[in-house]
Amino acid sequence: MSIKNQYKIIEFKELGDERGNLVVIEGDGVDIPFDIKRAFYIYGSDSTVVRGQHANRETEFLLVNVSGSSKVKIDNGKESVIVELNKPRMGLYIPAMLWKDMYDFSADSVLLVLASRHYDEHEYIRDYQDYLRIIDENGAK
Ligand code: TYD
Repeated sequence: MSIKNQYKIIEFKELGDERGNLVVIEGDGVDIPFDIKRAFYIYGSDSTVVRGQHANRETEFLLVNVSGSSKVKIDNGKESVIVELNKPRMGLYIPAMLWKDMYDFSADSVLLVLASRHYDEHEYIRDYQDYLRIIDENGAK
């Protein structure tokens, strides 16, 4: 499958008024395709740091730079795409089984991640060669 049909850029509604901005992300198919089970955020990462470098067998993610900017490279073993996250209204949906790297964090970057599952180290694939092998095996089924 082409990677363009796997990830999604989602523009959230802006409910702001003269008091300031408000962005809502509802799960379960309202704003994003999955039920939100977990949220975490990454900040204080240097511009030289590369985070992620893994794929998840089960978990789907939604990434938003609620402050500052970062880049995300997503890879399906055949194609890759780089997305710059730089607006609190902009979400990147990443389905399970895509390899991802997060990097180029601005000093003020706060990267919010919503996840469809609780944390489970066993569903992480942290070796890229393993990832390619698993993708190949799944494709051959
Ligand atoms: P890691 O997966 O390396 O973070 P990233 O994908 O951003 O590079 O996680 C760093 C540490 O935090 C690692 O010891 C696992 C732990 N962790 C949790 O306990 N729960 C979580 O939901 C996440 C994302 C990480």
